[in-house]
Amino acid sequence: MKYTQWLCLLWVLICCPIAAQVDTVRIAINADQGIDTINRHIYGHFAEHLGRCIYGGFYVGEDNQVIANTDGVRNDIVDALKALKIPNLRWPGGCFADTYHWKDGIGPKSQRPTIVNRWWGGTTEDNSFGTHDFLNLCEILDTEPYLSANVGSGTVQELIDWVQYTNHGGRSPMADVRRSNGRDEPWGVTYWGVGNETWGCGGNMTVEYYANIYRQYATFMPGWSSGKEIVRIASGASSSDYHWTEVLMRDVPHKLMEAVALHHYSVIDWSNKGPDINFSDDQYFTIIENALHMEELITRHSTIMDKYDPEKKVALFVDEWGAWYDGEENKGVLYQQNTMRDAMVAGSTLNIFNNHADRVKMANIAQTVNVLQAVVLTDEEKMILTPTYHVMQMYAVHQHALQLPIHIDNTNYEHNGHSLPAVNVSASTDREGKTHISIVNIDLEQSRPLVIHIGGEELGDGSANILQSENINDHNSFDQPNRIHPRDFTEFVISEDQIELTIPPFSLVVLEL
Ligand code: AHR
Repeated sequence: MKYTQWLCLLWVLICCPIAAQVDTVRIAINADQGIDTINRHIYGHFAEHLGRCIYGGFYVGEDNQVIANTDGVRNDIVDALKALKIPNLRWPGGCFADTYHWKDGIGPKSQRPTIVNRWWGGTTEDNSFGTHDFLNLCEILDTEPYLSANVGSGTVQELIDWVQYTNHGGRSPMADVRRSNGRDEPWGVTYWGVGNETWGCGGNMTVEYYANIYRQYATFMPGWSSGKEIVRIASGASSSDYHWTEVLMRDVPHKLMEAVALHHYSVIDWSNKGPDINFSDDQYFTIIENALHMEELITRHSTIMDKYDPEKKVALFVDEWGAWYDGEENKGVLYQQNTMRDAMVAGSTLNIFNNHADRVKMANIAQTVNVLQAVVLTDEEKMILTPTYHVMQMYAVHQHALQLPIHIDNTNYEHNGHSLPAVNVSASTDREGKTHISIVNIDLEQSRPLVIHIGGEELGDGSANILQSENINDHNSFDQPNRIHPRDFTEFVISEDQIELTIPPFSLVVLEL
């Protein structure tokens, strides 16, 4: 242990007995001890052909005269996501991906076959939003595309053709088709998912079977000439299915697999998920408990990965996460409102990802527009930004910054005889030398006094933003689009090497030093 770490530990030990009794949360941050960079892809997104995410969300059609669009994609959504600096966008699913045949979505739109969206409402789609539309959108957004490929009902050849179509610069059968469809240069897609939830909607496979299938698909994927290495992502575990990760890490040669996925949703009960807005305090507690469970999931999946890959060459991608309710309008389309509860889920989950920057290299919130924990909701020509959007914008300062080690001497949020750590935190230093600390207080009732000790850095001036509202179920609506938005927060005191502040109940603060 280095000298500064000893000092921090000593400081915490001296203060501990007092802290346990007086409800002050003491946080020690080692500003000179950062090792890992927070991968910007932790702030990634996910857009599936589901409900009104693509059709009626991102894409309103080239002929739409009412909603301003470029090539059929809404301009207001593009502007909102650019402001968020989204680093990547995963598409076309989700469960939809393992029913999707990409060749049906290229060429003249009037000649494309239809597809029935069998997982999500049985709607018939006309394939008018396809590969070109998606990859061009990613270029406009300045974001990396992540293509989720069909293993469940596809073929190896179909996947190789897709990689060739998007990534080959020379002459080849697929590159020539791409050119005939109006795109000369390859897009150069880096991120490729090899199936989605292959334990469920992606084929109901055992992991032992999928590991073999994966090896076969992954063998033929690289080798095209866009100049970019590809990242192959194995379909990963559902929440605490540790056996799944164990077998993938054991049975797939690591030279064939750059990342393993993990999906975890914060749900009250899969058979009764509870309301999106008018939830009880019990339901709030359970959702936050499930969100915080991400800490244990990442720790345990990472421990298994460490066993087979101590050098951490294979990354963990949490490529679906978020809260899932029975929204008032969600009948098969998973539309739900987004309240301050979702801000607590987002802030806490992103803190966990930041603090595991050594292994977690990508995460994708489910989903970007009009589905589950969306950052953007639309209603015809109206669009609103949700509390989750504002959290992601406040946290964007952590993208590609150096993660700082933290020790926290916490107090508990007690509810009906159960307890959770009341406060969670992450911190990083960016390339300009600015340190950012994001703090969440999940407690519905109590403010928390905080003392933050910063070791190894001289403290100058600081500024801060806060996201808070009067009631936990407050949200932005089409009538009141700006009810919740970040505000300046000035109630903190910086003295020598520490910062003191009181964080209000169910609020989130990001400090900049
Ligand atoms: O995000 C909604 C669905 O949740 C996805 O399609 C699937 O992968 C997961 O079960």
